[in-house]
Amino acid sequence: MELIQAHNIRRSFGTGDLRTEVLKGIDLTVHEGEYLGIMGKSGAGKSTLLYQLSLLDTPTEGAITVAGVDILTLKEVKRTNFRLRTLGYVFQDYALVPDLTAAENVLLPIVMRGASYAEALSTANKSIDEVGLRGKYNNLPSELSGGEQQRVAIARAIAGKPKILFADEPTANLDTASGQTVIDLITCLNREYKLTVVMVTHEREYAANCHRLVHMEDGLLVGEEQL
Ligand SMILES: Nc1ncnc2c1ncn2[C@@H]1O[C@H](COP(=O)(O)OP(=O)(O)OP(=O)(O)O)[C@@H](O)[C@H]1O
Ligand SMILES: [Mg+2]
Repeated sequence: MELIQAHNIRRSFGTGDLRTEVLKGIDLTVHEGEYLGIMGKSGAGKSTLLYQLSLLDTPTEGAITVAGVDILTLKEVKRTNFRLRTLGYVFQDYALVPDLTAAENVLLPIVMRGASYAEALSTANKSIDEVGLRGKYNNLPSELSGGEQQRVAIARAIAGKPKILFADEPTANLDTASGQTVIDLITCLNREYKLTVVMVTHEREYAANCHRLVHMEDGLLVGEEQL
């Protein structure tokens, strides 16, 4: 089944002489259970594409359906709820709140989805166990390594049982070993829970477990390979 269908996605920034078209007409379909890698040089538009597909930004032109919903017609509240309930995010800088513990970081979006604090805490701790950080519930981000912080970010992303995990260079700030641990975890989530994953990565070795790679150049998809 097709989980994401994007048609003729264009995204421009600026106006007049300063207007630049960053995405120049992208068609992309992502299937349920798929692990898709988006590759390309710096500035090719990978993050911009990921933001359009994941409702963090809105294209200038085009159509996108996610899980059967025409996301571009959603009003703000519905859009936020859709993001909270259907999508999970992992970024290269982890995006954890520095003065909240690992468990508090993970439970925050669960509380926002309407759970009680006690319920959210129990879900958060289970999620932290799942990413291999049992016992680190009360560590602040500064008391965790980069790789561990990224695993907390993944725990936060999966705690709400999203349909799709979007990851933008999740290994960019990590050494090879921690980067591989993060990739193994993402691969495991895809294999065990059939979580659909869309991941931007620079490095081919980190994309080795992807089912399919699409290559971007200058705002366009220029090639595709099945692995
Ligand atoms: N909000 C914005 N306003 C203006 N230009 C932007 C904006 N966001 C992105 N761009 C431009 O779009 C181009 C593509 O940026 P993008 O971040 O998508 O590239 P990328 O492929 O993710 O690169 P990297 O591998 O370095 O992360 C860049 O030239 C960037 O300057
Ligand atoms: Mg980027």
